[in-house]
Amino acid sequence: MNTVHTIAQLRAAVARARQEGKRIGMVPTMGNLHDGHLALVQKALQSTDYVVVSIFVNPLQFGPNEDLDSYPRTLAADQSKLLDVGANLVFAPSAKEMYPDGMEGHTRISVPLVSEDLCGASRPGHFEGVATVVSKLLNMTQPDLAIFGKKDYQQLAVIRKMAQDLCMPVQIMGETIVRDPDGLALSSRNGFLTAAERQLAPRLYQALQQVAAQIQGGRRDYETVLNEARQQLSEAGIRPDYLELRDPVSLRPVTEESQQLIVLVAAFVGTTRLIDNLSFELN
Ligand code: PAF
Repeated sequence: MNTVHTIAQLRAAVARARQEGKRIGMVPTMGNLHDGHLALVQKALQSTDYVVVSIFVNPLQFGPNEDLDSYPRTLAADQSKLLDVGANLVFAPSAKEMYPDGMEGHTRISVPLVSEDLCGASRPGHFEGVATVVSKLLNMTQPDLAIFGKKDYQQLAVIRKMAQDLCMPVQIMGETIVRDPDGLALSSRNGFLTAAERQLAPRLYQALQQVAAQIQGGRRDYETVLNEARQQLSEAGIRPDYLELRDPVSLRPVTEESQQLIVLVAAFVGTTRLIDNLSFELN
């Protein structure tokens, strides 16, 4: 497994793999890899012949008061995990390589509607930063398949829409959330939690399960069900940013006819903002 830091090196390595007739897979990440990321790499290895993992903490997707500076950068540990799992190439560019003329005048990719509420409402500009960097990474690598985790469900919806609207010749795949045994979705930000906060954090998934169980059990007073779950999170000392029920494809609010649903949560456990979601159906 090689690590390259420039776009020219990335393109040369991918071109060699293509000449050998290999199908290219890509897993874009911001590093600090955990088992959730490694599951994406394993999936990419099952589906393609040559897997590129990008590691880049993208400043364009962080707001001014967010955790860009404290976001963990652990390249050596990440390389060792990727070597063990069998990735073929790590692309770890600098911010200068990605944004040689700075970010201010850089072209932005904006994906309306699906970007606008939930995380988009609390993190203005976030999805524009994500869509911009992902489109750059896909253009540089030109993979056949790119895989993203479903924990960042809205991000996945934004990327799917972008790839579809811009006719990008790449298959976008979402992979199941990997959880700790107590239900907490794996996230690089879990490392920010104190021991006491870590104990509290599984309440997020419990809240999602509770909402799904109540609705599958027949309750149709959706807003009351959601309010009860929000209230329980608050009483446990977790500050919900949102807890919402949506259509899993459009991410628009559900109607009485909706059969496929997803409940999504973002909440502050201490100062750490965590997200999670759970899809379910009615029958
Ligand atoms: O999910 C992430 O780690 C990032 O948002 C991504 C997709 C790598 C873009 O920077």
